[in-house]
Amino acid sequence: MPKPAKTLRIYVLNGPNLNLLGLREPDIYGRTTLADIGKMAAKRAKTHGLSTVFHQSNHEGELVEWIQEARTKAAAVIINAGAYTHTSVALHDALRTLICPVVEVHLSNTFAREKFRHKSHISPVATGVIVGFGAEGYLLAVDAVASLLKGAAP
Ligand code: DQA
Repeated sequence: MPKPAKTLRIYVLNGPNLNLLGLREPDIYGRTTLADIGKMAAKRAKTHGLSTVFHQSNHEGELVEWIQEARTKAAAVIINAGAYTHTSVALHDALRTLICPVVEVHLSNTFAREKFRHKSHISPVATGVIVGFGAEGYLLAVDAVASLLKGAAP
């Protein structure tokens, strides 16, 4: 009997304070919780025949470890590194080791906010960036990953 094809996994990684989505500055980040985003992303991934592994941490090292794990376990990574986006060389270095597509997501339009949010250590090592579409950005990222994995996108 041939083995059934394995579903390709997308690692969806979330950085500090994103566990407070829904409560934290809803005028900026919206009222959708991270748990809701996790469910929505899984559902969207399923429509593409993909699955998601969804994580959040307030600790930089834990995010680094999940990125390292993604090297062998994930077909793509979607990452909202929260404030570490603007500070973390460790996340930059970890992401550079990946050969799979990496999509950076931000709920808010970081470029329309304070100057310190304009710099991203993630963007130079991302395949693409989605900012300012709220929770919908995660779904756009799943669609982008699906296209990239099918070889349809640039
Ligand atoms: C964020 C933007 C970051 O500047 C901020 O520190 C966050 C959330 C976003 O999704 O809009 O925590 O990544």
